[in-house]
Amino acid sequence: MTHSVNFDVLIVGSGVAGMSLALNLAGRASVAIVTKRSLCDTNTRHAQGGIAAVLDPADSFDAHKADTLVAGAGLCAQEVVELVVAAGPAAIEKLVDRGVALDRGSSGSLELTREGGHSARRIAHAHDLTGAAIQEALAQQIRDHADIEVFEDHLAIDLITGARLARGRGRGVAGSPDDAVLGAYVLDVKGNRVVPFAAPIVVLATGGAGKVYRYTTNPDIATGDGVAMAWRAGARVSNMEFFQFHPTCLYHPKEKSFLISEACRGEGGILRTASGQAFMPSYHALKDLAPRDIVARAIDNELKRSGDECVFLDMTHLPGDFLAERFPNIYGTCKELGIDLRSEPIPVVPAAHYMCGGVQVDTEGQTSIRGLLAIGECTCTGLHGANRLASNSLLEGVVYADRAARRVIALLAQGPAEPHFEVPDWDTGDARNPDEAVVIHHSWEEIRSLMSNYVGIVRTNRRLQRAKRRLELLYNEIREDYWRFYLSPDLIELRNICMVARLVVDCALVRQESRGLHYSTDYPETDDANWRHDTVMRRPRFE
Ligand code: SIN
Repeated sequence: MTHSVNFDVLIVGSGVAGMSLALNLAGRASVAIVTKRSLCDTNTRHAQGGIAAVLDPADSFDAHKADTLVAGAGLCAQEVVELVVAAGPAAIEKLVDRGVALDRGSSGSLELTREGGHSARRIAHAHDLTGAAIQEALAQQIRDHADIEVFEDHLAIDLITGARLARGRGRGVAGSPDDAVLGAYVLDVKGNRVVPFAAPIVVLATGGAGKVYRYTTNPDIATGDGVAMAWRAGARVSNMEFFQFHPTCLYHPKEKSFLISEACRGEGGILRTASGQAFMPSYHALKDLAPRDIVARAIDNELKRSGDECVFLDMTHLPGDFLAERFPNIYGTCKELGIDLRSEPIPVVPAAHYMCGGVQVDTEGQTSIRGLLAIGECTCTGLHGANRLASNSLLEGVVYADRAARRVIALLAQGPAEPHFEVPDWDTGDARNPDEAVVIHHSWEEIRSLMSNYVGIVRTNRRLQRAKRRLELLYNEIREDYWRFYLSPDLIELRNICMVARLVVDCALVRQESRGLHYSTDYPETDDANWRHDTVMRRPRFE
């Protein structure tokens, strides 16, 4: 018998959004963070470039808004863009107050760089390790707060709602509310048991889902858990067709997901074909600093045209000392792999990088389910529209952690929306040990290759339909295994990856136009008259 553990607020995920929210709530509520590996093993930790905000007197809020709207290709929510951009300087100040050491020039003011789609220098950074600097500083603060309890190696399986209890494992709460969250079932990976966490407020801060694709800049943990859980619980999910491919992931057999920051191009790096030709001037007036969708598509086009395996990012014209000082992570990693940035260009390919869609939320992170909030990459707030402007996402994470904290405090002040429910234990039913665990690996590989082959940068109806049929088959097999076998982290993540892949394909099939990150050769034009709106999906009630 496992008893549930009780908190006011359960935060799932420990990246910039989850940790910032926990710190905002410290001392005002009992808070648990569950995180599936260690506290610092997050997508945030891998962010290189930085965090965008208007910090230079020569820059303006209007310019940052305009750049965000242009990148978003007509789908950004104007109100959201305004509130996030306006909150930028305060968000940076908060991070600095929490101990994040951002780079400063000799005068003491923050050093700012440029990235694609930005009309001004507005990216604050800590060399090319901005995410790591944020992660370490916030984690230190979290450890210093006795009233934030951190559960490492705890992987959330599913949200607990009344409707779910009536349907799945953990049956038997008569009369529980259908449409409010009651907590989450969480796999204690080391203890090998499922722990019910009871909480009237659950906040998903689970990050992205780059592992849906074969090539990604994301770490292994990026399996879309929050989106899949929210979807299964009946929350609205939107704009999943807009998966951002970063133009420059290192192409090397030993380093499959190493990002070459866009800041390299911000500081003068030039993309070239294998024959040395700088190709971006023939695609966009901003050349190498065009918005990401345009650069990624240009590279895709060059690779298809030439049959080459990669293109090259050339920084050999920049001073060697500057490269080592400004990009110590990229410089050092490339050097270890035998690539000397000072004398040779870096081989790069586009790779899945950022999920612009996600769980649909309002301006305080509230989802369509009572008590369930979501913040950070797993959400669709309206900030990114059809294409995220570089370095707007760390900013969004900090700003929405502030806004969600306000909502959480207001909800707690109202008292529980529902009478107290005893959350039942997980019901293992007739589950047994899997006879062939390797099948999980095969299914995972199948999903990632079919997503890369059929649902990449350039799409067609035929390929999307193929992907849909294959994913349905895989999903049914995975569902059988889910009920038949004891749960393992691999099986839980596989189920989530498959669900997220299906959502990407379903949204892509709905949108009959090309816009931002969704480019279809069947509908090559943008069709504002019919498609200038979000693609909103909701699970059929008893799928
Ligand atoms: C980068 O450093 O290029 C990544 C920045 C981002 O994706 O926002």
